[in-house]
Amino acid sequence: MALNTDRFLEDLHCLRSFGASGVGKGVIRPAFSAVDIAARRWLASRMAEADLDVHFDPIGNLFGVNGPKSLLIGSHSDSQPEGGWLDGALGVVAGLEIARAAKEAGGPPISVVNFQDEEGRFGILTGSDVWTGKISLAEADTLTDNDGLALGAVRARMSGRARDFLPHDMFHGFIEMHIEQGPGMDAAGTQIGVVSDIVGIREVRIRILGRQNHAGTTPMALRQDAFQALSEFNQRINARFAALATAATVWTLGYADISPNASSVVPGCAVFSLQWRDGDATRLDKMEQTVCEVAGEIARDLQVKVELGDIGGIAPAAMDARLKAALRDSAEALAPGKWLDLPSGALHDAANVAQVIPSAMLFVPSIGGISHAFDEDTKEADLVKGLEVLNRAALSL
Ligand code: GLV
Ligand code: MN
Ligand code: MN
Repeated sequence: MALNTDRFLEDLHCLRSFGASGVGKGVIRPAFSAVDIAARRWLASRMAEADLDVHFDPIGNLFGVNGPKSLLIGSHSDSQPEGGWLDGALGVVAGLEIARAAKEAGGPPISVVNFQDEEGRFGILTGSDVWTGKISLAEADTLTDNDGLALGAVRARMSGRARDFLPHDMFHGFIEMHIEQGPGMDAAGTQIGVVSDIVGIREVRIRILGRQNHAGTTPMALRQDAFQALSEFNQRINARFAALATAATVWTLGYADISPNASSVVPGCAVFSLQWRDGDATRLDKMEQTVCEVAGEIARDLQVKVELGDIGGIAPAAMDARLKAALRDSAEALAPGKWLDLPSGALHDAANVAQVIPSAMLFVPSIGGISHAFDEDTKEADLVKGLEVLNRAALSL
């Protein structure tokens, strides 16, 4: 089948125009925002033009289906609050081009998927969490974003076109193409990465309640300062996690909200996120135990209340041996000496989909290892090489 690489690149740039940030090639396209929904409608129209059966499910996942049994290729088109143009978008548009080229050639049957809320505005990988049955739609509806909006309320914006959830057994395999999002491949000068496994994650929202008071009159010894408690929590977690970590273990306090956030008020409340990632579920458990211990110690030592929310997570996931072999063969044929096997430190829908369908992933390099930032980018030659390697592997499957 004849891939059309110009059409692939044009579609990729067109998708970027939905929520283009104006800074570099960045995008602002959070799940269920107006631009996210407009982008999904545009992608649906491209799928329909390719004679694929357009199917939105109740959580907002978009499929372009070719027949009762097919290979599924895709990723997600929602972005981080400040995101790059390729994170997720690349895998969706690659899936679209390969499914379209296969359709034009009269086979084999290939379908495309665009999962909703991969970036975790409401949960962690919410669209694929629901499609794979990890959480129910009713549970997902109760998840809230940083502004307290419930997913159940915002997904109503897309419900007009929703049909049922598609059965998993319509698809004999799933392949997700993605940018690496880290520095390894770029530094090594490689063009293609075949993912061995995807890291596991745990994440919790923590609320510290102190005593809001006057910043001029409240003696230091009498304060119950929620920000100081957050700061101390962070110090202790850094030390305790470092004692458990390998070189691959990472943790991030990426969201914090201090209230009332005024320079002359001792903060009464601090809400923040803590996430930790590792390929070993036992280490993730130990780190979780540490979070609970430190929370208790901070409450006792700083005279504050520490409330831990539900601890959510995704288990480490190994990729399917047969699909990996097809990707390796294809990489060796089209990029000899310029490919490698590597684990993924970023999360992907493939970690969920691997629980219900054989799944694999293909990476292309990220320039300078930058992602989840406006200046995320990949050389055009690498984008095209990734598409060609994935297409050849899809044919062989
Ligand atoms: C997904 O974007 C992640 O956080 O790894
Ligand atoms: Mn992604
Ligand atoms: Mn991402």
